[in-house]
Amino acid sequence: MSLLLFLSSSLLFSCLDSLTEAHPTHLPRRVFTDKEIAVKRSPVPGDHAPVRILLRGEPDSVTAAGQTHLYTYDFQQPQKAPVERRLVWKECTPEDCGYNITVVHERQKADQALVCGTDGSETLCCDVNLSAQSPTCTPSNTSGAIERGIRSFIVKEGEASALVESTESADLYITNSGSQEYVGIHKFGKNRVGPASHNKEQHYVGLMLSRGRDAPLQDKVFAFYKEKNKGSNPRDDMWLPYVTRVCMADIGGRKNNMQLTWTSQMSARLFCGDPGTRQHFSELVDVAVVQADQWQDTRVYGLFRNEWHMTAVCVYTIKDFDNIFATSAFEGQTSAYSRDRPRKCVEDSRLLSPETLRKIAETSEMVDWVQPVNKSGPLLFNHHNYTHIYADSSKDKRNNTHTVLFLTLNNGAIHKVLQTENQSFFIAEYHPFNHRAHISSIVLHPSSRKLYVTTRSELVQLDVEHCAKYGDCEECVLARDPYCGWNFTQCSAATSDTLQDLTTGNHTICPVPLLTASRYSTDARAPERVERIAVPPKSKFFLSCPMLSKHAEYTWRQGQDTTLCRSKEQECLLLIDSMSPEQVGTHTCESEELGLKKVLLHYELQLESRAAIGRLSSPLIWVCMVAALIKS
Ligand SMILES: *[C@@H]1O[C@H](CO)[C@@H](O)[C@H](O)[C@H]1NC(C)=O
Ligand SMILES: *[C@@H]1O[C@H](CO)[C@@H](O)[C@H](O)[C@H]1NC(C)=O
Ligand SMILES: *[C@@H]1O[C@H](CO)[C@@H](O)[C@H](O)[C@H]1NC(C)=O
Ligand SMILES: *[C@@H]1O[C@H](CO)[C@@H](O)[C@H](O)[C@H]1NC(C)=O
Ligand SMILES: *[C@@H]1O[C@H](CO)[C@@H](O)[C@H](O)[C@H]1NC(C)=O
Ligand SMILES: *[C@@H]1O[C@H](CO)[C@@H](O)[C@H](O)[C@H]1NC(C)=O
Ligand SMILES: *[C@@H]1O[C@H](CO)[C@@H](O)[C@H](O)[C@H]1NC(C)=O
Ligand SMILES: *[C@@H]1O[C@H](CO)[C@@H](O)[C@H](O)[C@H]1NC(C)=O
Ligand SMILES: *[C@@H]1O[C@H](CO)[C@@H](O)[C@H](O)[C@H]1NC(C)=O
Repeated sequence: MSLLLFLSSSLLFSCLDSLTEAHPTHLPRRVFTDKEIAVKRSPVPGDHAPVRILLRGEPDSVTAAGQTHLYTYDFQQPQKAPVERRLVWKECTPEDCGYNITVVHERQKADQALVCGTDGSETLCCDVNLSAQSPTCTPSNTSGAIERGIRSFIVKEGEASALVESTESADLYITNSGSQEYVGIHKFGKNRVGPASHNKEQHYVGLMLSRGRDAPLQDKVFAFYKEKNKGSNPRDDMWLPYVTRVCMADIGGRKNNMQLTWTSQMSARLFCGDPGTRQHFSELVDVAVVQADQWQDTRVYGLFRNEWHMTAVCVYTIKDFDNIFATSAFEGQTSAYSRDRPRKCVEDSRLLSPETLRKIAETSEMVDWVQPVNKSGPLLFNHHNYTHIYADSSKDKRNNTHTVLFLTLNNGAIHKVLQTENQSFFIAEYHPFNHRAHISSIVLHPSSRKLYVTTRSELVQLDVEHCAKYGDCEECVLARDPYCGWNFTQCSAATSDTLQDLTTGNHTICPVPLLTASRYSTDARAPERVERIAVPPKSKFFLSCPMLSKHAEYTWRQGQDTTLCRSKEQECLLLIDSMSPEQVGTHTCESEELGLKKVLLHYELQLESRAAIGRLSSPLIWVCMVAALIKS
């Protein structure tokens, strides 16, 4: 009885699931648990998620910066605890040192990093040799200006930052989120520049350098944030998404007139939504940047949420940002009034006239909004609660680039999505943890295709190129995993010689199999074994069939009768209310996906003979039932 109750509630949930995810292709095609794919895990000491993960050198070697220590992990031997090295600050002894690491940037010079630490009242920055036995914070010539400028500035945990190095100096750009004074982008280095004081609440989610432009003078820094809406209408969105930019060459205005304050800052609203249905997404959650060979084509993937708990991803290009900043009117200013406001970066911003500076101080916001590339709607949207986005656009061995998005969920799972020009394909859902987990960051080691996932207690290495798990050629192609292809023996890492069809997943490119033995269709292949089961008359009973692909349709067939599985759980169940002679015979579980038909299981049901009545059903049935229930 309780078994049945349990069963029906799981079926109810499946129904709800299929209502919210109207189309099955919105579900990840495959689900992989931590037992099905290579997951290596190592504990994170200190009960605090790493501040920064550095993937230097060897694919299996990872350096994590914690609050007070550097940890070196060797994933060849994940069971070994990481090598711990305490960071030594010149200003204090380890016993009474209150500085916690907040910023870590690798420098051009091998082994060197710029590290900053904050004790709640001041910030120290200095150079550290990441390979040293006892990494020590040492002042250096090139970062000296950063160290002096940043001292009285409190770096908050989790703020975005970027380091720009030249031969004789270095500049650190860092965001400051919240509702206090001086919220925005801050620059430390040869020149100290920061935002004007304003009373807006802004939360920054990303910072991006845009260099390699036509002239170095035009190099810029972009930042992405959500701003608290001041509107009083209760129907207004709570948050508004923005992109803002400043010129790297900007050194602020004149003495006592925007001195040390950005004169080149411009901000524009981001739009993510579907103008047709007026559905839109206004809370910016995270961004991922994909640098392109041509600077204009650099893409920014924005992860958004709305108040109905839906999430969406929209993609923008730098060219589109630049267009808005070059052409849009300024909020509240006519184009005649703001004609003398420079839109390009100027050589010496201190020479801007007081008149111009006054107009700059009035507003930095543009009237026009930035639309997603090619005026497209969201690349994907659904009801999942995504928390981080990571984009991999590394070249494959055929020299093609495909964008693969990794999206973390708030329960600790990760979605892997193939992004083509006009569609998203949900390749897989990974469960690196066997419990709910709060993922704090993800980063991919591109050449080894290992994804590093951090929480406050674990650092996990996840193999996202686990091609053999897909199976035969048809499965390999249906998977549409750009990291994998069919090498004529097995599904393996993609090379220029492997078969794959990322645009449609058309399995007909596969070599024709030698064996075709099935009475249902020429495509289908029959399983080798037929399971015989004897069931007592009138008993309740069910058969189960694994549903590996969430994009396939599964049916149970008995002769001409078919029962379609509507649930998208892991098992396709055939429920038999009361065993009778009608159920005697062969039951087959079949699947169909993009025209590929397969026979997965054959069961031969028999009525248990009179003599055997009273005996328990065969152990196999119980194993099936229990397995199915546990999984559902
Ligand atoms: C620094 O880190 C320690 C250990 O994680 C923590 O107890 C302390 O509160 C942190 N201090 C600051 C200023 O964040
Ligand atoms: C960093 O430390 C390593 C190991 O002690 C040493 O071999 C290397 O020379 C150091 N690098 C610099 C730039 O000091
Ligand atoms: C730092 O600068 C000083 C003076 O400009 C110079 O003498 C010294 O060699 C520099 N040190 C390094 C490591 O470049
Ligand atoms: C791959 O692309 C890059 C840049 O687009 C090009 O320089 C290189 O020659 C290409 N390699 C091959 C093997 O086609
Ligand atoms: C989504 O996840 C975030 C982070 O765990 C959480 O703060 C938020 O409340 C969640 N939203 C919903 C609608 O569950
Ligand atoms: C935008 O559209 C153009 C022309 O159709 C296409 O070449 C380009 O790849 C599209 N850009 C993106 C990022 O999809
Ligand atoms: C995507 O673009 C291709 C080629 O331009 C087109 O054939 C296909 O129908 C489009 N798919 C969607 C989902 O819009
Ligand atoms: C196919 O890939 C597997 C595993 O990567 C490898 O063992 C096998 O030799 C490859 N076969 C061919 C024909 O390349
Ligand atoms: C797959 O390709 C074959 C041959 O090119 C074509 O006939 C078939 O319609 C394609 N199937 C799908 C689902 O696109």
